[in-house]
Amino acid sequence: MFDLDLIQRVYKQMPERIAKARELKGGPLTLSEKILYSHLSQGMPTEAYSGGEDYVDFAPDRIACQDATAQMALLQFMQAGKPKVAVPTTVHCDHLIQAKEGYEKDLPRAKDTNNEVYDFLASVSNKYGIGFWKPGAGIIHQVVLENYAFPGGMMIGTDSHTVNAGGLGMVAIGVGGADAVDVMAGMPWELKFPKLIGVKLTGNLNGWTAAKDVILKVAGVLTVKGGTGCIIEYFGEGAKNLSCTGKGSICNMGAEVGATTSTFGYDESMERYLRATGRAEVADAANEIKEHLTGDKEVYENPEKYFDQVIEINLDTLEPHLNGPFTPDKATPISEMKEEAKKNDWPVEVEWGLIGSCTNSSYEDISGAVSIAQQALDNNIKPKAEFGINPGSEQVRYTMERDGLIEVFEEVGAKVFANACGPCIGQWARYSDPKNAPKNSIVHSFNRNFAKRADGNPNTHAFVGSPDMVAAIAIAGRLDFNPLTDTLTNEDGEEIKLAPPTRYELPVKGFEVEDPGYEAPAKDGSNVTVDVAEDSERLQLLTPFEPWDGENIEGAKLLIKAYGKCTTDHISMAGPWLRYRGHLDNISNNCLIGAVNAFNKETNKVKNQITGEYGEVPDVQREYKAKDIPTVVVGDHNYGEGSSREHAAMEPRHLGVRAVLVKSFARIHETNLKKQGMLAVTFDNEADYDLIQEDDTFNFIDLKDFAPGKQLAVEIVHADGSKDTIKVNHTYNLSQINWFREGSALNMIKKQNKA
Ligand code: F3S
Repeated sequence: MFDLDLIQRVYKQMPERIAKARELKGGPLTLSEKILYSHLSQGMPTEAYSGGEDYVDFAPDRIACQDATAQMALLQFMQAGKPKVAVPTTVHCDHLIQAKEGYEKDLPRAKDTNNEVYDFLASVSNKYGIGFWKPGAGIIHQVVLENYAFPGGMMIGTDSHTVNAGGLGMVAIGVGGADAVDVMAGMPWELKFPKLIGVKLTGNLNGWTAAKDVILKVAGVLTVKGGTGCIIEYFGEGAKNLSCTGKGSICNMGAEVGATTSTFGYDESMERYLRATGRAEVADAANEIKEHLTGDKEVYENPEKYFDQVIEINLDTLEPHLNGPFTPDKATPISEMKEEAKKNDWPVEVEWGLIGSCTNSSYEDISGAVSIAQQALDNNIKPKAEFGINPGSEQVRYTMERDGLIEVFEEVGAKVFANACGPCIGQWARYSDPKNAPKNSIVHSFNRNFAKRADGNPNTHAFVGSPDMVAAIAIAGRLDFNPLTDTLTNEDGEEIKLAPPTRYELPVKGFEVEDPGYEAPAKDGSNVTVDVAEDSERLQLLTPFEPWDGENIEGAKLLIKAYGKCTTDHISMAGPWLRYRGHLDNISNNCLIGAVNAFNKETNKVKNQITGEYGEVPDVQREYKAKDIPTVVVGDHNYGEGSSREHAAMEPRHLGVRAVLVKSFARIHETNLKKQGMLAVTFDNEADYDLIQEDDTFNFIDLKDFAPGKQLAVEIVHADGSKDTIKVNHTYNLSQINWFREGSALNMIKKQNKA
């Protein structure tokens, strides 16, 4: 499945490009720089790029799409008029499978429910030369790590956790579907050259501490904003001591600190993983240029000189953590959990322990959790909480079954769900009425724990931990259980202390799988037809967005002033809405329904300035649209953090919102807004956010002069007729301004195709 020719091509050009980049920089290079400079789409520049400033065009080696985002991406690609994707691409069916009764029943039900979507994705993939991973084959990032990721490569994926492939030494970045479409269509992919954060790891993991705890600690240090615009590069002896899949877990959750991506230098753990997953040729090729697949020695010896920020973590003394609730950066070392839980009134009784997600569903992860479950069985301890497992891939599941690991889980009463995202993306039939469900705590090994994310219940306090800790806490049924110091009482009334987990980095008998769930595309797909039913509820062919009329935007009404955290989940909710990912008009009925209105602190209740009444956000916006009234969305810091879904940008655009004005943006969402022809601007003076009133009207008075690096002025007219004129900033370069002019980046591609 992997493309050895492609990898060899990349490796062939790396040494020369790296040498040139070193010359340009006048010094040694980090691994991130080596990969970035080796993937420039148009030769070497005359000066070294400046991190956090220069926009650079790249040529990624691969693209991966998951089924929820692939629908819109491929609907867009179909509009670009190309016969085949220009870059190796895969589609993975993992997001739409609901976890309910266990994989044997859940998988056939999902195939039935999502039949139309799977058929669409399979036929588009077949037609346009895209590799198709069927439902049940596994979670995108685990499948990519097992099959496609390679040291020194660059990939993009239509999912924020594409960054997981950094575990195999890639620069892998989550993008919106529109960016992926550019690359599928043979265009370069543009990124602001990232800044660099170095994380030096010393010592060795031991006892209960897992690779996951490294990133849980980093998240506590950097917070959800701290990695924005940066690549996090891990190095040091401690890094070499981590397994490849452990590195993947760390890189995976780099998305939770807003990092562009994270990566590790090529080492023996990666070589072992490549060989164990049937890619000895890739390991051999990597070994030949291995000095180019890691940062220069001098960089790691004097990191302060070469990274914009350096963090040091000693693995010898790192404690297991639980992060949460409601945000992945609230990091609590397990020794402090008793006190913290009490202080914050978190429910200490834990109802569920969930192991899986793209973050922690490798064989190693599962084997660690099994070793804890086995101790419960051996010592007659009855688990207090329920257990759910999502293996990362069919290869992992099949190997687990062969090695008796599934049996252990089943013996402790765990439900083994399908090899899919499941509860991690709200595909979990936990409650019939989640809105009115009680306050409770769950622990999981996932990455995200925003309110309602797993089960739709706003009162669920979700804590993120390593699979081993999740297993221990689920068995104890208590959030404040510290397996390092506490004991459990078994059914015979004896006090038992759990031993630290035993993890197998790789299966002793090797990986095995009968049917990995892969379908190769047709060599010539020109005769393959792609059907979209006119009356489909779930799929809708796209109509291009209107180009800009070249005039200032005047008389725009405030749709919502979002208060506090506004993630892409708040803008375009997941859960049951995933069903409409391929139907722009239908999914737009979830537009901003999770955002908190700053004026009444309620969700999905905004003032309609036409009627003076309060209504649901999509309804109010549809009324403005019907009357041809432009609107503005106002937001706080890191607006649009979270997943890469471009629906969060397409929906407001489709419904007629013209501009989004915030204190700061999450990177992917800002780019997505630009791609969809929206005006994405930030307050020059953050305090101006407080000037915005509920009945405000906005006039963008100098938009006609929209130019790179030039501030724009916005006149805000309040209900009493008073006015404030404020300055707003933007990061559009010339080609992005052209997207705005043409109505979207896709309109621009089409225009260029015709030319
Ligand atoms: Fe899926 Fe959750 Fe990862 S939705 S791709 S398992 S972050």
